[in-house]
Amino acid sequence: MRLKDKIAVVTGGGGGIGEGICLCLAREGAHVVVSDVDMELAERVAAKVSESGQKSLAVQTDVRKADQCQALVDTAIKEFGGLDILVCSAGIMGFSNRDDSDAPLTIENMLESDWDMTIDVNLKGVFLCNRAVIPYFKKRQAGKIINIASVAGRQGVEFLAPYAASKAGVINLSQAVALHMAPFSVNVNVICPGIVWTPMWAQGVQVLTQRSDNFKGVDPEMIFNGIVQTQIPLKRVQMPEDIGNAVVFLVSEEAKEITGQALNVCGGMKLN
Ligand SMILES: NC(=O)c1ccc[n+]([C@@H]2O[C@H](COP(=O)([O-])OP(=O)(O)OC[C@H]3O[C@@H](n4cnc5c(N)ncnc54)[C@H](O)[C@@H]3O)[C@@H](O)[C@H]2O)c1
Repeated sequence: MRLKDKIAVVTGGGGGIGEGICLCLAREGAHVVVSDVDMELAERVAAKVSESGQKSLAVQTDVRKADQCQALVDTAIKEFGGLDILVCSAGIMGFSNRDDSDAPLTIENMLESDWDMTIDVNLKGVFLCNRAVIPYFKKRQAGKIINIASVAGRQGVEFLAPYAASKAGVINLSQAVALHMAPFSVNVNVICPGIVWTPMWAQGVQVLTQRSDNFKGVDPEMIFNGIVQTQIPLKRVQMPEDIGNAVVFLVSEEAKEITGQALNVCGGMKLN
């Protein structure tokens, strides 16, 4: 119970990794506001948090909208009497509106609208949520922020350029927020997951089978397992709980001297 009665907000909390984060926080005694653009997903995870004995609340939030991000923070404070932890996990892979295309996944085929959508959700969404919580954390002189980036933010990825760029932006933005919040005793860190089987990847491999010359017609599960076997030294897929456990550590007192850092949780896939 390292987080007994702490109040946490998790954006994208209805997603694969978001659920793992919410349940790990709850396991350690936190009460969790589960936020997602998809209210059904948020409610499903909030119900699991409640089943575990902690308080929970589902809130519908589109992280691209400043007023909704502010309302999320305000609601958490009003309903639960405070806020200690913000985790920004909402994200998209970024070719969501090209599912019907078979154009190769190269820069020249990328749609401006895909770029805008990816940056808006993955990077602007983190900015808006971080900005929304800053005045409250400053006033309290306490607080923890975790932004979820990706190993793709460590190095460009040819077929995922907007996604990788957005995640590199999250790492850089988080450093700025960490510097700004350090005088107020607020810790701001990033987690870079490696490869976690979630709805995001299920959709991602589907697109690869349509649009990547290397993977056309290949069974999606084989593609995913192949990537794990060839790119992850530990040769294991990461689980949502692995990301959740890293969040728990970074928001705990044990990590009070850690700020402005990006932690890879990726089985050795990236070494810096
Ligand atoms: N799965 C992986 O292998 C992997 C690897 C590295 C990083 N990540 C990152 O982890 C985070 C979670 O990804 P996941 O794999 O659980 O994906 P997921 O698709 O299961 O979950 C993402 C969640 O974000 C929500 N979301 C999408 N757009 C939103 C918006 N505009 N506002 C609010 N919520 C929105 C979705 O509804 C979904 O529930 C993302 O930031 C992703 O980039 C995932």
